[in-house]
Amino acid sequence: MKRVLIGTGGGDCPGLNAVIRGVVKRASREKNWEIIGSINSFDGILREPTEVVVLDEKTVAGIHFRGGTIIGTTNKGGPFEWPVKNTDGTWGTADRSDEMIRKLGYMGVEAVINVGGDGSQRISQALYEKGLNIIGVPKTIDNDLPFTDYTFGYQTAVQIATEAVDKLVTTAASHNRILILEVMGRDAGWIALNAAIAGGAEVCLIPEIPYNIKKVRDSLESRFSKGKGFANIVIAEGAMPEGGEPSAGETDEVGYRGLKLSGAAVRLANELKDEGVEPDIRETVLGHLQRGGIPVAYDRILATQFGVKAFEMVMEKNYGKMVSYRHPDIVSIPLADAVQKKKYVTLESDLVNTARGIGMCLGD
Ligand code: F6P
Repeated sequence: MKRVLIGTGGGDCPGLNAVIRGVVKRASREKNWEIIGSINSFDGILREPTEVVVLDEKTVAGIHFRGGTIIGTTNKGGPFEWPVKNTDGTWGTADRSDEMIRKLGYMGVEAVINVGGDGSQRISQALYEKGLNIIGVPKTIDNDLPFTDYTFGYQTAVQIATEAVDKLVTTAASHNRILILEVMGRDAGWIALNAAIAGGAEVCLIPEIPYNIKKVRDSLESRFSKGKGFANIVIAEGAMPEGGEPSAGETDEVGYRGLKLSGAAVRLANELKDEGVEPDIRETVLGHLQRGGIPVAYDRILATQFGVKAFEMVMEKNYGKMVSYRHPDIVSIPLADAVQKKKYVTLESDLVNTARGIGMCLGD
């Protein structure tokens, strides 16, 4: 029996279960393969006792439309930065990667499929460099991974954010207010800009275009002066004013990877008030609603394709690669390339041109 381990790492994302199901169903069409899932990414291997589950066709039946991940996830710690409590009560980290690779060997794991975003794929590449047979599957609602046209989960997030804009438009109009919607995306503006276009927001502020608050104020005032008594703004959580930084909060989660972004909408509301903008301004932070629940059909299909491809790459021993979507094909690219950079909205893109073309203020 050949054993393949699958783990899901980083923030959860609609479509993770469809990937797991794709891997398991594709493997079940071959003889002598067993798929096991590590609970909460690599934590399941690093913990004692080991926390893994056997994934068979029965386990994955009907999970393709379920949100979250049936094997859990984490965006804390990992094999290279395992949190360790020091004697003085502070936290440090330990590199447990060699120990983990050895343990996978004892467990008879032939290959690992690591489903995750940029942080997880950097871990995949580092483990590959240490000799582990590993394949990455790109996942993130932020759509910020390069060399793949889309990541699954992103279309669901855009859909949820768009529905939020739709709802906020009617209440803004009824109350003659300026309503600000803060959406996720980390330091990429894909969710914000797409939801703003789809939902018809008047202003969209994204990390790639630091905003000039006076220009935002002028565009709102010009709209109100034309008798349009309300406005909707979509702001990405990582957006920042010219010369400023993204708005970030504190986290006491031990081993949390990255910056915890929060407060962009409230900051913008205060800045607009300071600029003398008179209509009532309210903020909505969409938060984890963008990540939870049922994936849209597009994401289910892409996730299933990624799962099937990942298992086929295991059979081909095509290790050190990441599954990627290059329309219309599902291909593989070196993990080393995938972790080199991130994919951001570019000012010259057709998307930005479209937003400007319909008169949207992008804060510049
Ligand atoms: O990367 C996905 C994402 O949802 C980002 O858009 C967001 O900044 C981050 O994860 C939040 O992560 P968490 O809720 O796990 O702290």
